Amino acid sequence: MPYRRKFLKRAGYTTLSALLTMGFLQKDKQKEDGSTNAAPANYLSANVNSPLRQLAAAKGKRYGAAVSTDILLKEKDYADLIARECSIVTPNGELKWNATEPQPGKFTFESADAIAGFCQKHNIELHGHTLFWHMGKPDWLPYPPTLKMLERHVTGVMGHYRNSPVLKSWDIANEIIADSEKETDNPTYGLRKGVKRELIRDLFLLAASVDSSKKFYLNDFGIEGATWKSERFLKMVEYLKNSGVKIDGAGIQSHLWFSTAYGFDEKGFNSVLKRLNDLEVKPLITELDIIIDTPLPDSIKKLDQMVADSYKRYLDLCFAAGVDTVITWGITDRHTWIRHPDWIPGKTFRNNPSLWKFLRPLPFDENLQPKLACNAIAKAFQQAT
Ligand code: XIL
Repeated sequence: MPYRRKFLKRAGYTTLSALLTMGFLQKDKQKEDGSTNAAPANYLSANVNSPLRQLAAAKGKRYGAAVSTDILLKEKDYADLIARECSIVTPNGELKWNATEPQPGKFTFESADAIAGFCQKHNIELHGHTLFWHMGKPDWLPYPPTLKMLERHVTGVMGHYRNSPVLKSWDIANEIIADSEKETDNPTYGLRKGVKRELIRDLFLLAASVDSSKKFYLNDFGIEGATWKSERFLKMVEYLKNSGVKIDGAGIQSHLWFSTAYGFDEKGFNSVLKRLNDLEVKPLITELDIIIDTPLPDSIKKLDQMVADSYKRYLDLCFAAGVDTVITWGITDRHTWIRHPDWIPGKTFRNNPSLWKFLRPLPFDENLQPKLACNAIAKAFQQAT
């Protein structure tokens, strides 16, 4: 399997057919109330001129985005936009193992520290992503790493940010749950091959021994509905809780697909959020971006409206369940990982470069102008109780 496909399958977007099989997406052309998933009248067209961070703060919430050091340093308009809109940011790759410990025991924090410095200057919180991931790892590192390797890494990286005035939370582990039964030896917890629940427990314990002043999250994708995967994810959260481990939140990545033909499993997602709240593990939206799948609308304008409408419906549901943090995976379509040739999602898009202009998953366009999706996020914050 080429690397790219492997990545898409394992670390970001699951394929449409897989999602349908998993029950994540529901075919609901015609819902009970007679409405469809097609774009409604444009109730999101009025621009909300306040920055998202301000609208979020008015409701005790936070808005943020994944950022990259090289772009922050190169593009002033991008840096200004992040400073204006975000109250929290996640490094796109700067805190992953391959960036922080490229050689065994040799740590480098230059790139990540540049983001931390930017955060301090602009009063932005920094979310630490991530200490443990099967991707974004140096070649020398096995997966899963040994406990000894984990100990050195966690001590080195968390230790470096122990006194940081901006870094307040860590994705202790990222994407530990397999995508399907076929990819796990562990039907109960669905962990990726080779990963034992006790190793994850020990990783959380290790993290707490280095710096328990931060919030600790377990982060994953494909859990935005009642799926095989979300069930295993919840079991794992429950196990960690019952083991007495410090776990404060669950990162729900939310790399989402919608189309005129299907929406998302609202009932199932509500139940995921409720179960997390019942476990006193706070749900957070950590990597939101939205793709519109085929059949594509006949204009960019309609597409943007669908993206916006999807943002609104998704966030309304999140806020009704008490979610207080929304982080989008990037902020502008100028720099979205899904337009990068390595990560173009799904066969249809991969094989048709002419369709790439329809990949418009983020709140600001290529010229850093707010799109309808930005209005949708703004309105969702405004209407949140
Ligand atoms: C992605 C980045 O955006 C890419 O630039 C990088 O090369 C690969 O990783 N889930 C995650 C993120 O948890 O870390 C991934 O980020 C996107 C999927």
